[in-house]
Amino acid sequence: MKTVIIGTGSFAPPRIVTNDDLAEVMDTSDEWIRTRTGIEQRHISDGPGTTWMAAEAAKLALKDAGVEPEDIDIIIAATTTADNCFPSAACEVQGILGAGNAVGYDVSAACSGFIFALHTMDGLMKTGAYETGLVIGVDNLSKVVDWSDRSTCVLFGDGAGAAVVRACKDGDRGLLWGRIGSDGRKASVLTCQARTMGNLLTGTKPEPGYIAMEGQEVFKFAVKKVPECVESLLKDAGTDMGDVKYLVLHQANYRICESIAKRLKISMDKIPMNIDRYGNTSGATIPILLDELNRQGKLHKGDRVVLAGFGAGLTWGALLIEW
Ligand code: ACO
Repeated sequence: MKTVIIGTGSFAPPRIVTNDDLAEVMDTSDEWIRTRTGIEQRHISDGPGTTWMAAEAAKLALKDAGVEPEDIDIIIAATTTADNCFPSAACEVQGILGAGNAVGYDVSAACSGFIFALHTMDGLMKTGAYETGLVIGVDNLSKVVDWSDRSTCVLFGDGAGAAVVRACKDGDRGLLWGRIGSDGRKASVLTCQARTMGNLLTGTKPEPGYIAMEGQEVFKFAVKKVPECVESLLKDAGTDMGDVKYLVLHQANYRICESIAKRLKISMDKIPMNIDRYGNTSGATIPILLDELNRQGKLHKGDRVVLAGFGAGLTWGALLIEW
């Protein structure tokens, strides 16, 4: 049995904020942001957030797959910015879609979230309990960045990507191999505290929590861990990068992707990029990029693609897919 992606979709809020727009409200410049990160603009939601974006991406993925909402058996949403503590984003999307036969829940692995969710979906599909699934990567980071911290707030944007998957008994296509990891000993390198709630007994006042990042530590972690993970994944699968058409990498920073390409001894032609247009949308970067490749007709039957992510936790993971 293989888990096959049969449709993709993505969505970002219409409001675009360029680097120059940011330079009007904080001490930064297009030149600083572009040269250090590759980001030129990002989409920012000025209204509805995570559930809305996730549902829009999901509708497009279902349309692409030719699947009706009532045919979905399971929905897994990867997000760290669900609109509510509960219900989950997945349950809310289920409600909007009218996917009455599905079970839905969220997974939390920050920027690695889509990889963790798809890997989890693959394991569940292999049990035989589910036939058609919806995997969503979505984040609304603009609501948890500290807009007074110019070293982090310029990096992030909002968006969602989704993939419809089906359990296929025959054929070679689908998810071939997967690997995920985490190291909670390094958790403090990249954090977003939960918003402190008021407490009657201790007199605690509610306080907002924001993203805090040791940027250079994240950089070092990503450029070491991702190549190691991809190489061991391919070794276990009995193949190598020569066999892989695209490495679809988490879009955190252009320079991180370049360093990973160097360590893997591959050209940047194999690493599609869209960080210039979206910034870092966390759990959404990989499915948005995958959807763009799919819609541009760049993925053909039999193409091998590696999806690889890294993020807070610290977490990382990679999946080998035959399209
Ligand atoms: N505009 C102008 N100047 C800035 C800005 C800004 N937006 N942000 C920081 N600076 C200044 C700092 O104040 C500092 O000035 P100083 O030298 O006068 O003190 C200088 O630029 C360097 O600041 P650093 O924070 O040391 O910047 P660094 O060179 O490390 O670059 C960056 C920051 C781009 C975030 C880098 O650390 C990096 O690429 N890290 C990788 C982490 C990453 O991309 N994370 C993405 C999110 S996490 C994830 O997706 C898993």
